Amino acid sequence: MLVRRPEKAYSPALIMKKTSIGIIGCGNISSIYFKAGQTFENLHIAACADLVMDKARQRAQEFGVPKACTVKELLADPSIEIVVNLTVPKAHASVDLAVLQAGKHVHAEKPLAVNRADGQRIMKLARQKGLRVGSAPDTFLGGGLQTCRKLIDDGWIGKPVAATAFMMCHGHESWHPDPEFYYEVGGGPMFDMGPYYLTALVSLLGPVKRVTGATRISFPERLITSQPKRGKRVKVETPTHVTGLLDFASGAIGTIITTFDVWNAELPCIEIYGTEGTLSVPDPNGFGGPVRIRRPGMAEWKEVPLAFGYTDNSRGIGVADMAAAIRGKRPHRSSGDLAFHVLDIMVALHEASDRSRHITLGSTCKRPAPLPLGLLPGTID
Ligand SMILES: NC(=O)c1ccc[n+]([C@@H]2O[C@H](COP(=O)([O-])OP(=O)(O)OC[C@H]3O[C@@H](n4cnc5c(N)ncnc54)[C@H](O)[C@@H]3O)[C@@H](O)[C@H]2O)c1
Repeated sequence: MLVRRPEKAYSPALIMKKTSIGIIGCGNISSIYFKAGQTFENLHIAACADLVMDKARQRAQEFGVPKACTVKELLADPSIEIVVNLTVPKAHASVDLAVLQAGKHVHAEKPLAVNRADGQRIMKLARQKGLRVGSAPDTFLGGGLQTCRKLIDDGWIGKPVAATAFMMCHGHESWHPDPEFYYEVGGGPMFDMGPYYLTALVSLLGPVKRVTGATRISFPERLITSQPKRGKRVKVETPTHVTGLLDFASGAIGTIITTFDVWNAELPCIEIYGTEGTLSVPDPNGFGGPVRIRRPGMAEWKEVPLAFGYTDNSRGIGVADMAAAIRGKRPHRSSGDLAFHVLDIMVALHEASDRSRHITLGSTCKRPAPLPLGLLPGTID
């Protein structure tokens, strides 16, 4: 029988109570999430696990986490309310499903899953169990993108009519110690970096209703030049150059390129074009600025001071927001609905190219609520 977890009654004392977090996946990105346990006053990292036990032990020692254990032990720990899933993309769905089966909320690194069916399974199980799903990226909660959101919502560029988003690089095999997953199905530049760009665009402009795309694999094999796998060759199984057109429900039209196939480019990260001006949006893979605006009659771009905090690497803010949202019985911002919509867009861009046509999306989502102005460091509400 499926039992709905009762949410505790709202009270300021409960809001201040720390939420116990378990981390699964103690690799490259994990250290910033362990630091989030020190940054956010409502989080306590209680345990960590990895397929490679030594990695879990190492992180536990480094960050003073009370328990390094197996995934099974972590899921059986009744004190843990939210599990943060930092495994590689192809493991996201199976780990998320195991977490939900264990009766815990889950927040996973991006992408939500590597295909629509897995994403749907995660969202369905969470609904059945009355549990929450959250997902990276949470960079749209940073001071840079929140300032952009406020400028758009306050009408500084008028009505948005179009947007461009460009992520141009030559892949990750020159620096990442285990870069193979970037070239497997579920990797590639759209699944890897698209979530930052698309989540930022959806947060700024609302959901997308229709897409089309063109994709290619320019280099069928990659040579790892980072240590410790220097010299290893990797077969490329997924498109590494993905161009898309996005029809937003609002009527705005977006153009996106994500690529691992170019050596150099001078394109901006994101620009939003409105009826009364243009907004230059900072790198959505970061939390800070610069935010720049140019309206008709202005001789040059003007940098806008950031109106919100969390301008340094604050990964984990989505987890802190989910923890606060559970206590406060409100929607969380880095939500599964948002991540599923982004996944749907990414899958549809590839399908559109394969099938030579436009794809009308089956999913949609609400824009996540903006953060309030004037938050104290380490707080979310
Ligand atoms: N590295 C980055 O800069 C970066 C930045 C942002 C997001 N991410 C995302 O974070 C995720 C992890 O990336 P990473 O770079 O840390 O990868 P990584 O390979 O360094 O670490 C992943 C860890 O997960 C463990 N793992 C894999 N499957 C597991 C399972 N079923 N159960 C338990 N442990 C498991 C691995 O042993 C490994 O230690 C990916 O989704 C990636 O897209 C990475």
